Amino acid sequence: MADSIMNIASSITLALALASLSACSPSPSNTAEPPLAGASIGGPFSLVDQDGAVFTDRDLNGKYAIVYFGYTYCPDVCPVDLQKLMRGLAAFEKSDPAAAALVQPVFISVDPARDTPPVLKTFVRSFGPRLIGLTGTDEQVAAAAKAYAASYHKVAGSQPDAYLMAHTQIAYLMGPNGEPIALLPLDDPSTSQDEASPAAIAATLAQWVRPAR
Ligand code: NI
Repeated sequence: MADSIMNIASSITLALALASLSACSPSPSNTAEPPLAGASIGGPFSLVDQDGAVFTDRDLNGKYAIVYFGYTYCPDVCPVDLQKLMRGLAAFEKSDPAAAALVQPVFISVDPARDTPPVLKTFVRSFGPRLIGLTGTDEQVAAAAKAYAASYHKVAGSQPDAYLMAHTQIAYLMGPNGEPIALLPLDDPSTSQDEASPAAIAATLAQWVRPAR
């Protein structure tokens, strides 16, 4: 009996969570609770950036962060998602440059064995000057992924070093105190020609990114 009440309660919670996730229409006088408010996403991490410098969660203090986990050898999903995210950010920048300046896009590798800082640097620069690439030891990457509820695992390829990494395809918008705000909408990669995703990403940024009060 207790179990079934718990199940009903968690179903209702999930339904409410999904309802708020899909309510993505921007509202200029937005006072709604962020969809991910209170979720256990984010937290301390210590990684290394594309220049080999230590980069921790504290380096994002005071900024809104777009956080995406993936790997540079990803054949399609990661490059397409990052292109959408950066185009969405660029569109937001056009409409509100001051607010967009507060947004730091971050790509965290789940393939540290191949994604060394120099490899990351070439990759992130192909998406413009603003994207930061992070990597680290296996343990550092695993800890960061765990904090952000991102999962990944190696999928063997034809050659030992030609493996793929299966990974969660999620872009988080985090707030200036490291708090989770919302998911940024990423469509199926087969719709990469679609303009809908960058526009929807820009709209979500416009909804939540505010200069410090
Ligand atoms: Ni990928």
